[in-house]
Amino acid sequence: MPDPLLPEPLLTVRGLTIDIPVGGGTLHAVRGIDFDVNRGETLCIVGESGSGKSLTSLALMGLLGGRIDRRAARMEFDGIDLTGANKRTMRALRGDRMSMIFQEPMTSLNPAYSIGDQLTEALLLHRDISRDAARARAVELLEKVGITAAASRLGQYPHQLSGGLRQRVMIAMALMCEPELIIADEPTTALDVTIQAQILRLLVELGREMNMAMILITHDLGVVARVADKVAVMYAGELVETGSADEVFNAPMHPYTRGLLRCIPQPGKTERGARLGTIPGIVPSLVGKVSGCPFRTRCDQVVDACRQDVPHRHPGAGEHAFRCVHENGLRAGGEVVT
Ligand SMILES: Nc1ncnc2c1ncn2[C@@H]1O[C@H](COP(=O)(O)OP(=O)(O)OP(=O)(O)O)[C@@H](O)[C@H]1O
Ligand SMILES: [Mg+2]
Repeated sequence: MPDPLLPEPLLTVRGLTIDIPVGGGTLHAVRGIDFDVNRGETLCIVGESGSGKSLTSLALMGLLGGRIDRRAARMEFDGIDLTGANKRTMRALRGDRMSMIFQEPMTSLNPAYSIGDQLTEALLLHRDISRDAARARAVELLEKVGITAAASRLGQYPHQLSGGLRQRVMIAMALMCEPELIIADEPTTALDVTIQAQILRLLVELGREMNMAMILITHDLGVVARVADKVAVMYAGELVETGSADEVFNAPMHPYTRGLLRCIPQPGKTERGARLGTIPGIVPSLVGKVSGCPFRTRCDQVVDACRQDVPHRHPGAGEHAFRCVHENGLRAGGEVVT
């Protein structure tokens, strides 16, 4: 039952499923995931390569290719049903009320158009605003994302900018219409590690300043620990654990989440020179029928029951949820290894 005192989430996703026809059958890439994002909140999605994070964000934006089958029991943005939304509705939402920053800026910036034209396009399309006012807004945002001599950049083309500058331009572009939701899919992987965290922090700070909700997909658990309100842990197409950042970092339940957290140094917990944990094994194939817990082949808590349906568990009063046959993610007599 929804709590009548709480505002409706900005984004509600229930049972999102994505199937892709591939040579040998159907790839069940995303299987029945649920999550909510409230206004102004940052949800971080973490999980290893191939777990379905990008497909999930593309599904929300209505940007999956035509061959790909997307279904959901419910997918709503501010009360607008995204499952049945036609192209026109999606086009009106994208770039205006929800926008996306992609993994690789060179594939999303058009090499044939100037930075100024690309920055102002969405604003001119969605708002009744003059070209001069749109350009003034573009300069203001370029300055906000730390680009100097911003006005002179408007006439430049993407190839004239360094990777770091292009990524900053992408962020400015996503912010132009002050969207209510921004989806940032590993927005800094194309950058030098030294500036990745800096740019992510900048993005989150600007998001907070503008009270935007954000879905941030990143491999950097250090950044997640600093910026996330909520965390969703994705493994082989399923959300295996979701909750507040505090719950997921301080009381992780799913063996995969515990494994991930063992892979990062924890201030005050990891001894100097200690080896970080690794998770042995590989992700199972998701082509054809998928049953039971997808993590069982790599799990240190595996039992026979893991081949059966896995229950959703809610360990506390809050939003914390995880999927495991074990009540606390540990088999009888098992212990937490940290
Ligand atoms: N168009 C497609 N055709 C076939 N398979 C696809 C397609 N798009 C994605 N996949 C597969 O779906 C799975 C999930 O892909 P997705 O890109 O969502 O992963 P990801 O979690 O974003 O990974 P990464 O961290 O590497 O970006 C992968 O196995 C991928 O190979
Ligand atoms: Mg991806």
